[in-house]
Amino acid sequence: LFAGPVDFVKGVVAMDGLPPADRPEVCFAGRSNVGKSSLINALTGRKGIARASNTPGRTQELNFFALGERGYLVDLPGYGYAQAPVAVVQKWQALLKQYLAGRPNLRRAFALIDARHGIKPVDHEIMTLLDRSAVPFQVVVTKADKMGRSALEQVLIQIEGELQKHPAAYPELVVTSSEKGEGIPTLRAIIEGLTAG
Ligand code: GTP
Ligand code: MG
Repeated sequence: LFAGPVDFVKGVVAMDGLPPADRPEVCFAGRSNVGKSSLINALTGRKGIARASNTPGRTQELNFFALGERGYLVDLPGYGYAQAPVAVVQKWQALLKQYLAGRPNLRRAFALIDARHGIKPVDHEIMTLLDRSAVPFQVVVTKADKMGRSALEQVLIQIEGELQKHPAAYPELVVTSSEKGEGIPTLRAIIEGLTAG
């Protein structure tokens, strides 16, 4: 699947701009700067297909990427702090919430958590929205390369504990580094399974 073509389809700024819900879709949600766009680049092996940057609030639209005809990957704007005007941020946050709660072909949301920070209150807010909307979600821990193994283990234990509060959460975490490639084959295999048939 990831060996085939990956194409940028469009950036969506309103619900009526969403592409037809005609194929399976997975999305990447998380706080600004957690590494959503970098993860899409690592998964697809196309550096720069999703724009990443050190400025929180880089991704400002719902960016759709097509895996051939088989599925969409959706890069979402971050939540939490962003370097953008408040009114603009509120607009994307509203769109993000409408999208997460009401997309019929959304097979799974990946909830990205920075290995250095663990789950924060804004993450719980989004996870609660996913619980209420019955959207299954799976935590992807990002930037694992920035942590030593024992500190990482501690964070994973914290996250697993926090996930008990969320009925829509998968218990298994995927630990990744977009920089080093850790966990990328595992995540690709999960997405292949969700978009097959
Ligand atoms: P917004 O679009 O602003 O919400 O951010 P984002 O979640 O898309 O984050 P992005 O992918 O733009 O990455 C933010 C910063 O983190 C960039 O400077 C990346 O280079 C860095 N980064 C992302 N993933 C990793 C990783 O696995 N390891 C390390 N060390 N840095 C990473
Ligand atoms: Mg981004």
